[in-house]
This record gives sequence, C-alpha cells and structure tokens, in this order.
Amino acid sequence: MEFSDELISHLLKARTVSALTGAGVSAESGVPTFRDPGGIWEKFRPEQLANFEAFMSDPDFVWSWYQHRREIMRDVKPNPGHIALAEMEKIFEKFYLITQNIDNLHKRAGSKNITELHGNIERNYCIKCRKQFNEVDVSQKKVLKCECGGLIRPDVVWFGEMLPYDELNFAEECAKSSDVFFTIGTSAEVYPAALLPLIAKQFGSYVVEINTKPTVISSDVDEVLVGKSGEILKELVNFLNVSIKSVK
Ligand code: OAD
Repeated sequence: MEFSDELISHLLKARTVSALTGAGVSAESGVPTFRDPGGIWEKFRPEQLANFEAFMSDPDFVWSWYQHRREIMRDVKPNPGHIALAEMEKIFEKFYLITQNIDNLHKRAGSKNITELHGNIERNYCIKCRKQFNEVDVSQKKVLKCECGGLIRPDVVWFGEMLPYDELNFAEECAKSSDVFFTIGTSAEVYPAALLPLIAKQFGSYVVEINTKPTVISSDVDEVLVGKSGEILKELVNFLNVSIKSVK
C-alpha cells in the first residue's frame, strides 16, 4: 500500500499518537466481529446476552456464552495488526492504545500501554462484594458463586452500563492531545467510544481510519486506509522503522 505524503509527514513529526481499536483488529485472528455478516449480533440479540437483566434472569445461559467466547479467545493468537500496534509503542515518543476489545490480544501481542474501555473477558467479579475471580475453569458452564453468595459475572461492559470512568477520561485526554489518531477495525457505531476520533479531530489531530469498508465516520476523518488492519499496520510499521532510522 502507498501511504500518502500527508500521512507520512504527520507521522514523522508526531510526538503523541493514539489508536482506538475495535473487533476488526482481531478478525484476522479468527475472533468474530459484531456487526459484519456472520458477526455475533447476527446470531444473538445483544439484549439476550450482553446486559445485566439478561444475566439476572438466566445467569447460566449468559455465563455459558461468555465461557464459550473465552474458549474461542484462548485458542486464537495475536495477528500482525496486534503486533504492529505493540511495535508502535517503541516508535513514537508517546503511544496510547485504546481498545473496545475484551479479548486480551493486545496484551498478548506485547502492548503495555492499553486502555480497555469495555473490560476484559479474562476477568470476573462478584456482583455483591466485587471480589475479583480471574482464574476460572473455562469448561465450567454453570455460573459460579462467590463465598458471599453473590453471582460471579464477567468483567465486561454490558449494554446500558457505564464505561469505566478513569479509562474513558484517559481515552478522552488521549484524543485531545494526539498529533495523529488512528481508528482501526471499528464500525464506530457504539458510543461513547465512537466519539473519540471525532474529539481528536476537533482538537486538531490528524485522524486516520483503517477498515475493510467505509464506516459512519469515514467522511469525518482526514484519511481512510481501506484494507485488512493486519496487513496495513504491518506495512506501516515496516515503513516507519525504515524512515525513522533514515531520519536519525
Ligand atoms: P463491529 O463488529 O461493530 O465492527 C467491526 C468493524 O471492523 C467493521 O467496521 C468492519 O468493517 C471492520 N473489519 C472487519 N474485519 C477487518 C479487518 N480485517 N481489518 C480492519 N477492519 C475490519 O465491532 P466494534 O466496532 O468493535 O461492545 O463494536 C463496538 C462494540 O459493539 C463492541 O466493543 C461491543 C459491541 O457491542 C460491547 O460489548 C459493550
């Protein structure tokens, strides 16, 4: 892929770069997205599975669905997109990775500076005393109970729930302070995460979307790179490694 002169010039002088990622970044690892054909919300209604009322009315059903997703995620590996994003931490003076993904693949790829907006499927907590339970047997399909009697739920943000306050605040600060802001593999349909690229744009960042197809915010960003994030990010990082070395 040819990168535009404008993108290259912004990246070569950027001191602070942020990236917002969505399910598309993990698609090449074999984790299904939500809204693409064959995506999770085509087979299940979010209100059946991803909200607190659903969990309280049928905890075993919701728990077993998350256990099934854990099994999928346990068996997949980070792809070149995750690896390239981890590399970017070494390339830029400040690099902030903000993710809507709960699959932990960014961490497994080596990223350190990760802000998780929608939680992490590897964690659980008791709804009564909030004790954390992070080592659960994925084959256990019936919901677990805490010693205090409370049900144990996955530590993910469900529909109708607030995003973690500190993480959202930090992500907004990243959007406001970035020289370049990437929005990668997200349909940008779920708020408040979808506002971050628009906040970045408003605060003068050069906003770049990487996606296999246009999204609802494509016309609002500075540049759209169409294609698979694993391929584009790998090429971009290779290019930056060479260009930055030749500048130094
Ligand atoms: P979506 O499923 O809404 O969007 C995935 C996006 O990735 C789409 O725009 C695809 O075109 C794009 N895509 C697919 N494969 C790709 C690839 N190989 N490279 C680049 N792009 C690709 O997923 P999200 O935007 O992450 O929230 O969804 C946001 C939130 O909605 C999720 O975090 C989840 C869901 O409901 C909660 O569960 C709270």
